[in-house]
Amino acid sequence: MKFLENLRQKYPTLRITTEGPDLVEYARDWTRLHETKASAIVWPETAEQVAAILAACNEHDVAVVPSGGRTGLAAGAVATRGEVVLNLERLRTLGECRPELQSIRVGAGVVNEAVQERGRAHGLFWPVELASKGSCHIGGNLATNAGGLRVIRYGHARQWVQSVQVALMDGSLLELNGELEKNNTGYDFRHLLIGSEGTLGVITAATLKLAPLPKPARTLLLALRDIPSAVRAVGIFRRRAWPLLAAEIFSEACLRTVLEVQKFAAPFETPAPAYLLVDVEGTADVSDESLQAGLETLFNEGLVVDGVIASSSEQAKQLWRFRETITESLGSLGIVYKNDLALPLPEMADFLAQLVERAPAWYPGAELYLFGHVGDGNIHVNVLRRDLHPAKSAPEARKAFLDACERANDPLFALVQSKRGSIAAEHGIGLLKKTYLTYSRHPREIEAMRAVKRAFDPKNLLNPGKIFDL
Ligand code: FAD
Ligand code: MLT
Ligand code: ZN
Repeated sequence: MKFLENLRQKYPTLRITTEGPDLVEYARDWTRLHETKASAIVWPETAEQVAAILAACNEHDVAVVPSGGRTGLAAGAVATRGEVVLNLERLRTLGECRPELQSIRVGAGVVNEAVQERGRAHGLFWPVELASKGSCHIGGNLATNAGGLRVIRYGHARQWVQSVQVALMDGSLLELNGELEKNNTGYDFRHLLIGSEGTLGVITAATLKLAPLPKPARTLLLALRDIPSAVRAVGIFRRRAWPLLAAEIFSEACLRTVLEVQKFAAPFETPAPAYLLVDVEGTADVSDESLQAGLETLFNEGLVVDGVIASSSEQAKQLWRFRETITESLGSLGIVYKNDLALPLPEMADFLAQLVERAPAWYPGAELYLFGHVGDGNIHVNVLRRDLHPAKSAPEARKAFLDACERANDPLFALVQSKRGSIAAEHGIGLLKKTYLTYSRHPREIEAMRAVKRAFDPKNLLNPGKIFDL
């Protein structure tokens, strides 16, 4: 490829691979559902290099896929059309924390957890906390506008971004917003780039806003009478003005599978249909008595059949492990197809009841797993086929499973739409959900998105075919 020869000449130390296992590994994300096809993987080391490589791609009509920690769940960083993958992991300059500004400057390839560690030394943190924190990058977090476990209190990633440095296909390198807190000077492209899934520009660095660490949480695990009880329980906590830091649900099947795979001891003697894991900030108002009184209300209302309040940080960590290891536990057992849905909270109970009733017909031969950020109205609907393996099963068998799940998406998403929900709450659209965008966005909105895409990337070379086709 002439383009790669030029790159090698211009940057003799640039790491480029065109063969071997890396060509597959770096061309995919966590989804493992699509056949990958990348022509090369390139690892730039500076923002200026990224901008120059994009300009060269533009000049030579080479399509390019930005890639971070590859933990994405929407196949956004997957190369399937012979693209060049631009992996940003070498942009890992981690600046010093600036406590007087409550901010930190980071390269796109810095791992989420590294920011948390640096902030913690100053009593600060970046409130985007997710179970993939040890692998996902800040660039990926911003490109997906990641949600996670603390959205109920702090919101999505975009709320914690001061400035974004971005390289565009024409080779320009822009700083979007800079150090300003207030800046109403027309469209805020920083927020357009956040959540654009690598289709408008490549994020090379960012200044993140940090928040003071909350008081250590009180953690409760509640065994629920049924799944819808979770929504009512969260309503009761809110009425009591508990300072919630997280409200997570998982079904009995999730806990059973986590116990089986991770060999953890069960938290309760008798299994319950679902579990609610709650973190309440341990402020002065949140005494043992008030937590007990809250629990009693839930028992009296018939929502909860058992419950535990963690008595130590070690016990709290273990309760969180039940929730945080669900994704990897399911992934270790077979092929998983994921849906990531958002519903208005008052619609959640009826939606889930209809889903559970229809799932056996929609997903024959597969198992249904429900978990997610119930306090945010975000439920992850996972479908597992234990008889299929992401790498070992024949591509035809994997494709047949993907096709079956995609057929089921139409009635599922019609149900979501009828309840004014979203077909992608936090993972994004990527390749995985692009056919279904109209279930959540008006055709006029999609047309406007296409116009924006053309303005940034007229040749459609940057992550082509993700979110929508041009
Ligand atoms: P990648 O997967 O590498 O890429 C994701 C998208 O961003 C792609 O479209 C890619 O092209 C683009 N991209 C990556 N880097 C850049 C860049 N520098 N510039 C421009 N575009 C770029 N997500 C949540 O929202 N909440 C959760 O609670 C959550 N929990 C998870 C738990 C587990 C165990 C796993 C495996 C995943 C989880 N995720 C969650 C999904 C995933 O971790 C997030 O989407 C994360 O933000 C992706 O970051 P990444 O660096 O891995 O990005
Ligand atoms: C989570 O909440 O654990 C993540 O979004 C991952 C997933 O959906 O599997
Ligand atoms: Zn999630």
